[in-house]
Amino acid sequence: MKTLHTLVAAAAMLAVCGLAFAGPGEDLIAKEKCNKCHTEKTTKKGPSFASLAEKYKGNAAAPDKLFNELKNGGKIGDEEDHKKVAASDADIKAAVAVILSSK
Ligand code: HEC
Repeated sequence: MKTLHTLVAAAAMLAVCGLAFAGPGEDLIAKEKCNKCHTEKTTKKGPSFASLAEKYKGNAAAPDKLFNELKNGGKIGDEEDHKKVAASDADIKAAVAVILSSK
């Protein structure tokens, strides 16, 4: 089992580094229906991922901040009860990496 776990972690790392192809981050965003309120480029109910990437550009604290927000849900800015993501830490981190690298 430990080997399997290591493999899964390695796959997640690969996905974070190789953002050119779909990985757990994209899967999570699709599965959790984030696109009800966010798209890559256009503002819907929530800001576009590209505008978030722009807003947090060069902000070294951003990945941790967004990770914690998505993991815990609740109040984010003007959104009183933001969706809480029920997924592994690795997958949530992968999704944050996808968002922050959106253009
Ligand atoms: C019901 C609509 C809705 C859904 C569904 C939703 N969001 Fe959001 N999200 C918002 C709104 C609105 C904001 C802007 C809050 C603000 O800054 O005032 C936001 C903000 C964010 C932010 C920026 C937080 C920050 O600190 O700047 C991120 C990242 C984010 N959402 C990711 C996600 C992800 C990933 C999902 C899917 C798991 C998701 N959202 C699902 C409405 C939604």
